[in-house]
Amino acid sequence: MSYDFKIAAADTPTLYRDLASALEGLVSGEPDPVANMANAAALIWESLPDLNWAGFYRNVGGELVLGPFQGRPACIRIPFGQGVCGAAAATLEVQRIDDVHAFDGHIPCDAASNSELVVPIVRDGELLGVLDLDSPIAARFDAEDEAGCVALGAILARVL
Ligand code: SME
Repeated sequence: MSYDFKIAAADTPTLYRDLASALEGLVSGEPDPVANMANAAALIWESLPDLNWAGFYRNVGGELVLGPFQGRPACIRIPFGQGVCGAAAATLEVQRIDDVHAFDGHIPCDAASNSELVVPIVRDGELLGVLDLDSPIAARFDAEDEAGCVALGAILARVL
Protein backbone atom coordinates (compact mmCIF):
# COMPACT_ATOMS: atom_id res chain seq x y z
CA MET A 1 0.00 0.00 0.00
CA SER A 2 1.31 3.46 -0.75
CA TYR A 3 0.33 6.74 0.80
CA ASP A 4 0.52 9.62 -1.60
CA PHE A 5 -0.94 12.72 -0.06
CA LYS A 6 -0.78 15.79 -2.22
CA ILE A 7 -1.80 18.53 0.13
CA ALA A 8 -1.53 21.96 -1.43
CA ALA A 9 -4.52 24.02 -0.37
CA ALA A 10 -5.21 27.61 -1.34
CA ASP A 11 -5.44 28.90 2.24
CA THR A 12 -4.09 27.88 5.61
CA PRO A 13 -7.35 26.67 7.26
CA THR A 14 -8.06 24.44 4.24
CA LEU A 15 -4.49 23.16 4.30
CA TYR A 16 -4.87 22.13 7.94
CA ARG A 17 -8.33 20.61 7.32
CA ASP A 18 -6.81 18.46 4.57
CA LEU A 19 -3.87 17.63 6.79
CA ALA A 20 -6.18 16.64 9.66
CA SER A 21 -8.21 14.33 7.47
CA ALA A 22 -5.03 12.75 6.05
CA LEU A 23 -3.75 12.24 9.59
CA GLU A 24 -7.06 10.71 10.68
CA GLY A 25 -6.71 8.25 7.81
CA LEU A 26 -3.11 7.39 8.68
CA VAL A 27 -3.68 6.72 12.37
CA SER A 28 -7.13 5.19 12.21
CA GLY A 29 -7.13 1.69 13.67
CA GLU A 30 -3.41 1.81 14.50
CA PRO A 31 -2.65 1.61 18.22
CA ASP A 32 1.15 1.85 18.03
CA PRO A 33 2.26 5.31 19.21
CA VAL A 34 5.69 5.21 17.53
CA ALA A 35 4.15 4.33 14.17
CA ASN A 36 1.58 7.09 14.54
CA MET A 37 4.13 9.73 15.56
CA ALA A 38 6.45 8.68 12.72
CA ASN A 39 3.75 8.98 10.08
CA ALA A 40 2.47 12.25 11.57
CA ALA A 41 5.97 13.77 11.48
CA ALA A 42 6.45 12.66 7.85
CA LEU A 43 3.02 13.96 6.81
CA ILE A 44 3.57 17.36 8.44
CA TRP A 45 7.09 17.60 7.01
CA GLU A 46 5.82 16.89 3.49
CA SER A 47 2.79 19.17 3.71
CA LEU A 48 3.88 22.34 5.49
CA PRO A 49 6.31 24.69 3.76
CA ASP A 50 9.38 26.26 5.34
CA LEU A 51 10.10 23.79 8.14
CA ASN A 52 13.56 22.61 9.16
CA TRP A 53 12.33 20.24 11.90
CA ALA A 54 9.02 18.52 12.65
CA GLY A 55 8.50 15.90 15.29
CA PHE A 56 7.80 14.80 18.82
CA TYR A 57 9.14 14.77 22.33
CA ARG A 58 7.44 12.24 24.62
CA ASN A 59 6.73 12.58 28.31
CA VAL A 60 8.82 9.78 29.77
CA GLY A 61 8.53 9.89 33.55
CA GLY A 62 8.35 13.68 33.74
CA GLU A 63 11.12 14.38 31.23
CA LEU A 64 10.80 15.09 27.50
CA VAL A 65 12.57 12.45 25.42
CA LEU A 66 13.05 12.70 21.66
CA GLY A 67 10.51 10.83 19.55
CA PRO A 68 9.98 10.32 15.82
CA PHE A 69 10.86 13.35 13.71
CA GLN A 70 12.03 14.71 10.37
CA GLY A 71 15.00 17.04 10.18
CA ARG A 72 18.47 17.12 11.68
CA PRO A 73 19.41 15.02 14.71
CA ALA A 74 18.22 16.85 17.83
CA CYS A 75 18.85 17.03 21.55
CA ILE A 76 17.51 13.88 23.18
CA ARG A 77 16.32 14.88 26.67
CA ILE A 78 14.69 18.16 27.71
CA PRO A 79 13.65 18.78 31.33
CA PHE A 80 10.17 20.27 31.86
CA GLY A 81 10.53 24.04 32.08
CA GLN A 82 13.59 24.24 29.83
CA GLY A 83 13.50 25.66 26.33
CA VAL A 84 10.39 26.14 24.23
CA CYS A 85 9.38 22.47 24.41
CA GLY A 86 9.95 22.35 28.17
CA ALA A 87 7.82 25.49 28.61
CA ALA A 88 4.96 23.83 26.70
CA ALA A 89 5.33 20.70 28.85
CA ALA A 90 5.41 22.62 32.13
CA THR A 91 2.46 24.91 31.35
CA LEU A 92 0.43 22.67 29.00
CA GLU A 93 0.11 25.77 26.84
CA VAL A 94 0.99 26.20 23.18
CA GLN A 95 4.24 28.08 22.65
CA ARG A 96 4.28 30.09 19.43
CA ILE A 97 7.61 31.87 19.26
CA ASP A 98 8.32 34.37 16.48
CA ASP A 99 12.02 34.70 17.36
CA VAL A 100 13.56 31.79 19.24
CA HIS A 101 16.74 33.79 19.86
CA ALA A 102 14.71 36.15 22.05
CA PHE A 103 13.21 33.24 24.06
CA ASP A 104 14.93 32.86 27.41
CA GLY A 105 16.38 29.35 27.61
CA HIS A 106 15.73 28.34 23.99
CA ILE A 107 17.64 25.14 23.19
CA PRO A 108 19.30 25.56 19.79
CA CYS A 109 19.24 22.06 18.29
CA ASP A 110 19.59 23.35 14.74
CA ALA A 111 21.22 26.74 14.20
CA ALA A 112 18.92 27.25 11.21
CA SER A 113 15.82 27.58 13.44
CA ASN A 114 14.41 31.07 13.86
CA SER A 115 10.81 30.46 14.87
CA GLU A 116 9.05 27.59 16.62
CA LEU A 117 5.58 26.23 17.40
CA VAL A 118 5.14 23.67 20.19
CA VAL A 119 1.77 22.06 20.93
CA PRO A 120 1.30 19.99 24.08
CA ILE A 121 -0.52 16.71 23.48
CA VAL A 122 -2.78 16.05 26.44
CA ARG A 123 -5.25 13.26 27.16
CA ASP A 124 -7.45 13.30 30.28
CA GLY A 125 -5.28 16.04 31.77
CA GLU A 126 -2.08 14.03 31.30
CA LEU A 127 0.76 15.25 29.08
CA LEU A 128 1.66 12.57 26.54
CA GLY A 129 4.26 14.65 24.72
CA VAL A 130 4.66 17.67 22.49
CA LEU A 131 4.52 18.31 18.76
CA ASP A 132 7.43 20.59 17.83
CA LEU A 133 7.77 22.48 14.55
CA ASP A 134 10.81 24.64 13.73
CA SER A 135 11.29 27.04 10.85
CA PRO A 136 14.26 28.96 9.46
CA ILE A 137 11.85 31.85 8.77
CA ALA A 138 11.20 34.35 11.57
CA ALA A 139 7.54 34.46 12.64
CA ARG A 140 6.74 31.54 10.32
CA PHE A 141 3.76 30.40 12.43
CA ASP A 142 0.59 32.47 12.77
CA ALA A 143 -2.66 31.96 14.69
CA GLU A 144 -4.02 29.77 11.87
CA ASP A 145 -0.98 27.48 12.10
CA GLU A 146 -1.49 27.33 15.84
CA ALA A 147 -5.17 26.40 15.51
CA GLY A 148 -4.35 23.85 12.81
CA CYS A 149 -1.62 22.20 14.84
CA VAL A 150 -3.80 22.14 17.97
CA ALA A 151 -6.35 20.20 15.89
CA LEU A 152 -3.62 17.76 14.80
CA GLY A 153 -2.58 17.41 18.44
CA ALA A 154 -6.16 16.53 19.39
CA ILE A 155 -6.20 13.73 16.82
CA LEU A 156 -2.86 12.44 18.09
CA ALA A 157 -3.97 12.59 21.74
CA ARG A 158 -6.35 9.71 20.96
CA VAL A 159 -3.66 7.47 19.44
CA LEU A 160 -0.47 8.04 21.43
N1 SME B 1 14.37 24.33 20.26
C1 SME B 1 13.69 23.41 21.13
C2 SME B 1 14.45 22.13 21.29
C3 SME B 1 14.02 21.08 20.37
S1 SME B 1 14.54 21.30 18.80
O1 SME B 1 14.09 22.56 18.25
C4 SME B 1 14.16 20.05 17.83
C5 SME B 1 13.44 24.04 22.49
O2 SME B 1 13.96 25.11 22.82
O3 SME B 1 12.72 23.42 23.25
